[in-house]
Amino acid sequence: MSQENTFFITTPIYYPSDKLHIGHTYCTVATDSFARYKRLRGYDVMFLTGTDEHGQKIEEKAKEAGVTPKQFVDHIVEGEGGILDLWKLMNVSNDRFIRTTDDYHVESVQRIFRKMYDNGDIYKGKYSGMYCTPCESFWTESQLVDGKCPDCGREVKYAEEEAYFFRLSKYAQPVKELLLSGEFLQPMSRVNEMIKNFIDPGLEDLCVSRTSFSWGIPVDFDPGHVVYVWIDALTNYITALGYMNDKYDDYEKYWPAVHIVGKEIVRFHSIIWPAMLMSLGLPLPKKVYGHGWLLIDGGKMSKSKGNVADPYLLAERYGVDALRFFLLRTFPFGSDGNFSNELLINCINADLANDLGNLVSRTTAMVKKYFGGKLPMEQEADDAMDAELISMAGGLHAAYAEQMDKFQPQNAIGEIFKVLSRANKYIDENAPWLLVKDESKKPRLARVLYNLLETIRICGGLLVPFMPDTSAEIAKRLNTAAVDWDSLTKFGVLAADTEVVIGDALFPRIDAKKELEELEAIHAAQMAAKAAAENHFVPVRENVSVDDFYKADLRVCKILAVEKVKKSDKLLKFTLDDGSGSDRQILSGMQPFYPDPQILVGKKVLAILNLPTRKMAGEPSNGMLLSAEKDDTVKLTLVDDAIPTGAQLS
Ligand code: MSP
Repeated sequence: MSQENTFFITTPIYYPSDKLHIGHTYCTVATDSFARYKRLRGYDVMFLTGTDEHGQKIEEKAKEAGVTPKQFVDHIVEGEGGILDLWKLMNVSNDRFIRTTDDYHVESVQRIFRKMYDNGDIYKGKYSGMYCTPCESFWTESQLVDGKCPDCGREVKYAEEEAYFFRLSKYAQPVKELLLSGEFLQPMSRVNEMIKNFIDPGLEDLCVSRTSFSWGIPVDFDPGHVVYVWIDALTNYITALGYMNDKYDDYEKYWPAVHIVGKEIVRFHSIIWPAMLMSLGLPLPKKVYGHGWLLIDGGKMSKSKGNVADPYLLAERYGVDALRFFLLRTFPFGSDGNFSNELLINCINADLANDLGNLVSRTTAMVKKYFGGKLPMEQEADDAMDAELISMAGGLHAAYAEQMDKFQPQNAIGEIFKVLSRANKYIDENAPWLLVKDESKKPRLARVLYNLLETIRICGGLLVPFMPDTSAEIAKRLNTAAVDWDSLTKFGVLAADTEVVIGDALFPRIDAKKELEELEAIHAAQMAAKAAAENHFVPVRENVSVDDFYKADLRVCKILAVEKVKKSDKLLKFTLDDGSGSDRQILSGMQPFYPDPQILVGKKVLAILNLPTRKMAGEPSNGMLLSAEKDDTVKLTLVDDAIPTGAQLS
């Protein structure tokens, strides 16, 4: 089985039924930090994420949108601003991405289903029970809460159908033993939950096929049935390694995995999944970690409540690293946490601008000012005043590793920040600005600055799982490439005559009050746009004569540049090539619909050019860009790149 130095870690596969929000981002970024940590420790890591694309909900959503289910999921997964884009933006270092509609997965699932059928663990029966359509779950009467779905609180209805079942009941005892053994499921509180709520009341066999919808993997020996969600979804963790397919050959090398999952799907990962693996005669996962949820105002994030924090917007305003850091620094991984913009801004100001950013700027600036940027070789030996800082920074790796090995990024970051604040105090204790006044104290001054640079090197290196770009930038400022684990376990690695590189503040301080007001305004504008879209009706337009239509000078223009209009949270300012030889400026209310407007640069759009100049937010606009609107989305009508710039619509 898996080799000594390999490490396989997974996120859940996400439902591409809607855009992902900050809660999903939290789960993936946390998993990314564990993958990066293990790489830092020298492991050969396989980090898998992906999408769970079948099921009734997707089928219904696609129908509503008037497209096929595959078109629907393709758009959410691969489309602009979709799931792949989001992980790229968030600097997620997954090695593989599985989509459950991938051919190899479909074939493997059919083989797995057949294998479990052949060994007698899947049998045909009839299912009846209370069914929650949005959650695609049957519930027993005792699981309902006030007669409603225990997951989403919505109405359930009685349903009956012929179906295949998995003999989950057969595995109740070994699964219970697994849950009680060692540290299979963490945090420990989830073990009691599982046993009390699911195992002890008695495990029922699990319905694993459906005939009521068709968007799923067909049971190849009984085509009216499609494989119901969990056998399709959970097996992704092994099919993505090549189990029962020829696409990959990594199963032997990497399995078993560590699964990072949200608390509501712990049941599937710690009970159903091990039972399925037992049925297949495969080794069980190393660990399932059930993390908490990010809440807003103490409640679930939901699009309908309009409280879904947008990772694109936040990353654009504060930077990807700041957002990643905030998520992992602020919330204890095993418990729920309340997300707020205020917490985010305070975290950036206190930890990143102050404790980390300032320390880097102050220290490098002093090396520059007092020694021209390069420390001298003549440095005094360490004295008693240095002992605490040196032992804290030199020993940091151990405390940090202990926390990361327990999947506690918040505490690992906490350990780093204890050292950073000790370093800030060390500056005050040693008052370099006084040492510099006395020539004979220069060797001592050099030693103080060296100790600070070393501390920064170690802390910066250990930040790599959380803020990969910032960590690299810190190494650059210290002129060192050394971010291997070994070098982070030792104090005194940096050359004594290190030459620093001066740069901009790593994290500029944010004016919290102003920023919160701006975020409020953006939120209000988004809500207004949403409300307008909900009340939207297509106006009946009067017939227009062909002659009138031709009066409009409609042309293909190329977007040369785009920027936000300062005084507005709606307007974007476009600089366009309209084919005339001189640039044209048009303002358009597209800001809410393009969180990252730079992706538009180089694209071709349609514009009406012969409109009178209008002033908007103090800026002239010469024409109008054509856009198209449906539901709550407005997008520019982009045209094929092959159409020349300046071409006129006829
Ligand atoms: N498709 C299933 C998982 C199958 S895994 C074999 C699914 N998808 S999901 O898109 O609904 O959720 C994916 C993950 O996102 C879950 O782990 C869930 O807990 C997590 N989160 C969704 N909202 C969240 C928060 N608000 N906060 C933290 N994590 C959240 O379930």
